[in-house]
Amino acid sequence: MLMKKIKRIGVLTGGGDCPGLNAVIRAVVKTADNDYDVNVIGFKDGYEGLIENRYMELSTKDVSGILTHGGTILGTSNKADPFHFPVLEGEDYIYLDRSSQAIRNFEALGLDALLAIGGDGTMAASARMMEKGLPIVGLPKTIDNDLWGTDVTFGYDSAVTTATDAVDKIHTTAQSHHRVMIIEVMGRYAGWLALASGLAGGGDIILMPEFPYDIEAVCNKVKSRNAAGKRFSIVVVGEGARAMGGEMVVDHKVETSPDAVRLGGVSRRVAAQITGLTNIESRVTILGHLLRGGSPTPYDRLLATLFGTSAVHMVMDGQIGQMVAMKNGSIGSTPIAEVAGKLRIVTPETPYVKAALSLGICLGTPHGVNINEYLEQETMV
Ligand code: F6P
Repeated sequence: MLMKKIKRIGVLTGGGDCPGLNAVIRAVVKTADNDYDVNVIGFKDGYEGLIENRYMELSTKDVSGILTHGGTILGTSNKADPFHFPVLEGEDYIYLDRSSQAIRNFEALGLDALLAIGGDGTMAASARMMEKGLPIVGLPKTIDNDLWGTDVTFGYDSAVTTATDAVDKIHTTAQSHHRVMIIEVMGRYAGWLALASGLAGGGDIILMPEFPYDIEAVCNKVKSRNAAGKRFSIVVVGEGARAMGGEMVVDHKVETSPDAVRLGGVSRRVAAQITGLTNIESRVTILGHLLRGGSPTPYDRLLATLFGTSAVHMVMDGQIGQMVAMKNGSIGSTPIAEVAGKLRIVTPETPYVKAALSLGICLGTPHGVNINEYLEQETMV
């Protein structure tokens, strides 16, 4: 089959920002120029820019010096679903299907492929845009590390580093005041950030959405530490954590966003319960968007660089419809259509979970009870 000569490609960054987005844009632009003499244009604010025809030409000069910068020079949006695009009419939003407009803009610009850098929302939108004929290669990013089809996303390591630094710093004040200190991290419906930063920071209790917690088990851990003379406890909580049989704590809703729910505040609930049941003072620190900022770690710079260069090679090799991925330590790919609508979450078999249990860290489950058996309780109710 004769392949179309690729001369011009588009790139966009969608969803919540994270460290490493600029590193991946840089890798894409440099590889396209250096290896293939292909032009790149960048759409502003994710799919919004493609729909509204807002873009910038990207030359190697434009990406010079951005490797170490947080954020994205292109801007991003987690509200730009081309099939359900919010448009303000009077005081209210109406939702329009702007997918055909996006395709028209893509064609008018003479583009041969689109590189869509994003998380599950961007991959889901990309899968549908591909059905309409848009030739896309995906690149996985998110601090949540919850994207299906890749072992890791860039942005995650930087967020783990920031969260771990916070856990380290909270330790000294916890010790000085003999308190229970609760640190809440983002991560949505996945506990990867909480698990990794809790483990790396030497947390005593780690609560994640995947393992609904038993507050008595949590308090028993705090009390046993006190009884052993360790008069403080560090609790790392993922924002999606919830009590067994309970609901996640919703901070607010963003109605124009494909997933309107914004989680936050579970740490306050946990703190009140711990103080109520143990009579030990507790304090809460919610790290929030701090986790999305700062310079990418060397690991994330390398991962973003590998993903960016590989994605351009994939376009040139005709591997359209794939998301570049890390699989067992090597660069591979997963069909975007397979990624859409799925999440990669923590399970009892996750090595970090097993390690945490071996260290005696409380994961919110009763001491001595098999996690799988404990989790079955809820399905039985
Ligand atoms: O997906 C990344 C993420 O930071 C989640 O961890 C968090 O729940 C969400 O985005 C916050 O979204 P927003 O930037 O709209 O507040």
